Amino acid sequence: MPLVADLDTPSVVVDLDVLERNVSRMAESARKSGVRLRPHAKTHKIPEVGRLQLAAGASGLSLAKTGEAEVFVAAGFEDVFLAYPIVGAEKGKRLLALADRARLAVGVDSVEGASSLAGVFRAAGRRLDVLLKVDCGFHRVGVTPAEALAAARRLVEVPGLSLRGVFTHAGHGYHADTPAGVAEVARQEGEILVAVAVELRGAGLPIEEVSVGSTPTARRAMGVAGVTECRPGNYVYHDGSQVALGTCGIEDCALTVLATVVSVPAADRAVLDCGSKTLSTDSLRPRAGGHGAILGRESRLDRLSEEHGVVAVVAGETFRVGEKVRVLPNHACVVSNLHDRVVLARGERIEGEWSVAARGRVR
Ligand SMILES: Cc1ncc(COP(=O)(O)O)c(C=O)c1O
Repeated sequence: MPLVADLDTPSVVVDLDVLERNVSRMAESARKSGVRLRPHAKTHKIPEVGRLQLAAGASGLSLAKTGEAEVFVAAGFEDVFLAYPIVGAEKGKRLLALADRARLAVGVDSVEGASSLAGVFRAAGRRLDVLLKVDCGFHRVGVTPAEALAAARRLVEVPGLSLRGVFTHAGHGYHADTPAGVAEVARQEGEILVAVAVELRGAGLPIEEVSVGSTPTARRAMGVAGVTECRPGNYVYHDGSQVALGTCGIEDCALTVLATVVSVPAADRAVLDCGSKTLSTDSLRPRAGGHGAILGRESRLDRLSEEHGVVAVVAGETFRVGEKVRVLPNHACVVSNLHDRVVLARGERIEGEWSVAARGRVR
């Protein structure tokens, strides 16, 4: 039986025991809260992981990009929500082809963007399901809660569209300094969106889906009465940022990068064969804190260049050239997107590998 330590490096290793536990725990939380779980598969981009999520009870998947949806629908997924403001007739044509094969919805936050897709559907005598994106405080995309009713009224007038619901994403939870701060963001995420849904329904608009979700806020936000669906993504793997935010413990992190020490130029410096092309440069959240933890050590990756990961070696620790170590990345979703395949392990034993089929599908 091959062992993780025998792998060539750098290799992305996914522990199946941890992955399966993460998948089933989130599914259980959704069941207890009485909401549908629609995991965001941009984290893993792997159809096999999506199938585990569906088998555990997920109602469908969320994705961001049309290209990701093409991979997952081709792999047999029948219910997909693109939680992203898709814009343009070119993409509209690809969405139309997808809508023939799957129950499809996309996010919108402008009549202009929605109309660029609706024209294609209308010309084909079809309607595209959309969810209006509401900004609950992240200030990335989305209409403000105060603008939501006017925006929804304009959307339902656009031929070729069907308004299925509203959605939001509390990405600002990643910047909350304490678990109590994350909990407050989660409460607001749920309550703001439910209030919007109540207002829109009161105006006679058909709001079936009230969809929230990020990994740090998922469990609390899904508990807010009136929420119908939750879309966490990162929870399948977790990462250094989730540990720092208090979402989980290190033992809940399924994805690590096996790396080799390629140089020890000084007592306080060791260099691993994983740089920004392996780990990305995403910083640790909620506070910056290097580029990755090394399992079993206090020393951390302090800086990265493309192929070098420089460890600031703390007093009392030593690294030797040729030694292999496991790095816990700051942000697992981007690591997944940087690699063609992940190696599957249970503990130290290797069980196979999966292709990251939708990696790089950013269009
Ligand atoms: C719109 C949307 N929904 C859901 C998610 C999932 O959040 P997380 O990665 O924290 O689980 C994301 C992540 O970026 C997102 O952008």
